[in-house]
Amino acid sequence: MNKSVKLPPDRRIGVIGGGQLGKMLIEASRPWNVKYTVLENDLHCPASSVADKVMLGGLKDAEAIRKLALECDVLTFEIEHINSDALLEIEESGKTVIPSARALKTIQDKGIQKLFYREHAIPTADFVICDTPSNLSQVLQPFAGEKVVIKQRTGGYDGKGVDIVTKKDIESGVYISPGPCVVEHFHPEITEYSVIVAADRHGNVVTYPLIEMYFNPQSNLVEFLFSPAETTADLEADCREAAMRAVKYLQSPGLFAVELFVTEKSEVLVNEIAPRPHNSGHHTIEGSYTSQFEQLNRILLDLPLGNTEMVQPSAMINLVGAEGQSGPYKLKYTKELLAEPGVYVHLYNKTEIRPHRKMGHITVMAEGLQALLEKAGKVREWAVFE
Ligand SMILES: Nc1ncnc2c1ncn2[C@@H]1O[C@H](COP(=O)(O)OP(=O)(O)O)[C@@H](O)[C@H]1O
Ligand SMILES: [Mg+2]
Repeated sequence: MNKSVKLPPDRRIGVIGGGQLGKMLIEASRPWNVKYTVLENDLHCPASSVADKVMLGGLKDAEAIRKLALECDVLTFEIEHINSDALLEIEESGKTVIPSARALKTIQDKGIQKLFYREHAIPTADFVICDTPSNLSQVLQPFAGEKVVIKQRTGGYDGKGVDIVTKKDIESGVYISPGPCVVEHFHPEITEYSVIVAADRHGNVVTYPLIEMYFNPQSNLVEFLFSPAETTADLEADCREAAMRAVKYLQSPGLFAVELFVTEKSEVLVNEIAPRPHNSGHHTIEGSYTSQFEQLNRILLDLPLGNTEMVQPSAMINLVGAEGQSGPYKLKYTKELLAEPGVYVHLYNKTEIRPHRKMGHITVMAEGLQALLEKAGKVREWAVFE
């Protein structure tokens, strides 16, 4: 550790993006009185309620990012779709950027990310890159099965930019990829997991217990998750090892979420890495000794990494807008939720609800996994807005 850093830190952190991840990152820093400036193109963004300052500007605007860097001691980002060239330039000028601009560049483009896994022998779903969408039907030959997964190389998030399509639809021209893409083998029977990995500036790396995730098939958003996962100690160790290896090769400090698939043959595949706090780690706010957000604050401030063990088994339920919902909103079952011990409601300060929009989340904690799943089942019924 850098011995000159002590609490309270006389530091200002710049965060590119002012969404809910930025909001929770700042909330976690409050006991240490860190100053935060957020760059966002909306003064009423979720993080605006807690940031010391919101700088108005586009996330791809190099000039705005340079301006942010000038007034901050260290820069981070809460979304991948930002100007990584500007970030690289700032990093090269000597400013600390965490995670590194180079790690972001590897991740920003799903094609480069998949080649990175191949280069380092990190198991991942088989793929080919197709940069000319009109040639898509000519690259299908290596893939067994009726379906393939088409992932846009850039710009996708939360399932947008990912299509599961039949080879027939591609061959007959019913499906046309909107841009350069990665074609992946479709694994029909996967269980999805995530491992949060924290890497400090000195090469120390720690992982959080395995998280088991369930997605909404319509919106592709994580609907429900819990940790520790309901699996064997061996599989948990394999997943944590694979996630740690993937992050080590990025050679960057930061807080990462590694999404994993376990296939029908119990193979562990790395799906993708998010170079930031992640929806799959929200339960760590109450459920872990050190939340994913506090952990990133520690890394940004060059403080020692915190303990990643769980206080109790925890689940997380996303609060999202339902089909047809728009405008002002209120939680329907506030009284019931707040009466339940071990239940914590988070709202993201979004001005309006929209279908499938992430509005908040609920953490549920219990002494054992069985009790947790029962309580979470009840709480899920109350996770609705009116
Ligand atoms: N090769 C695959 N086989 C089966 N399902 C997949 C595959 N790739 C992605 N998926 C499904 O699509 C979801 C979104 O894909 P992902 O690569 O994580 O993109 P995003 O950036 O949108 O999160 C995954 O969580 C998983 O449910
Ligand atoms: Mg994903």
